[in-house]
Amino acid sequence: MIDARDVRKPEFPIEPLFVRRWSPRAMSGAPISDAEMLTLFEAARWAPSTYNEQEWRFLYGRRDTPQWQTFFDLLVEGNRAWCDKAAMLVVIASKKTFTQSGKPNPVHLFDCGAAFENLALQGAAMGLVVHGMMGFNFSMAGQSLAIPDDFDVAAMFAVGKPGDPADLPEPIRARENPSDRRPVRQSICEGKFSF
Ligand SMILES: Cc1cc2nc3c(=O)[nH]c(=O)nc-3n(C[C@H](O)[C@H](O)[C@H](O)COP(=O)(O)O)c2cc1C
Repeated sequence: MIDARDVRKPEFPIEPLFVRRWSPRAMSGAPISDAEMLTLFEAARWAPSTYNEQEWRFLYGRRDTPQWQTFFDLLVEGNRAWCDKAAMLVVIASKKTFTQSGKPNPVHLFDCGAAFENLALQGAAMGLVVHGMMGFNFSMAGQSLAIPDDFDVAAMFAVGKPGDPADLPEPIRARENPSDRRPVRQSICEGKFSF
């Protein structure tokens, strides 16, 4: 797998793991162990959340199990083209309401995003591919995975062992490079919105 630290140069000093994490598509089709899988979810577990709600629920389907096809069928064609070599596909369901009051929680998806990033960083540290996805059928995910009404389907992601980019179909192969970011000062402003 390409080491993103070789190509990504932070403007200001940060922990190297932040630039090491990226979203490759080349995976080998090899499985991940139970221990690796649980370590990933353990990292997500420690994300911050409003009132410690821990709104995230992870539903997974591993390759070569009866669950796999249910998860794979949710994906759009463009994601199927590379996810066929994933070890695991995951749907994140997000609890929309506060446990105590039952009132709407305006930051439930924000908290799920934090949990995903924890998991993605852990995956990067372990040399695994973790790749977020919105290219799937959200309503079908809700139905086929029996997700209750007080949960939103937040996103999906693929996890796998790195593979050879040369095995990817074009044009996906050409995109197999760590991306850059706009300069940090273009994402911040002191005071009122002035972008
Ligand atoms: C919530 C979310 C949804 C995404 N959806 C897709 C997707 O459907 N297909 C895909 O190939 N990449 C998808 N991506 C990957 C992004 O394109 C990628 O994270 C972004 O370009 C930044 O690149 P990096 O993750 O390599 O730093 C998604 C990422 C996130 C976080």
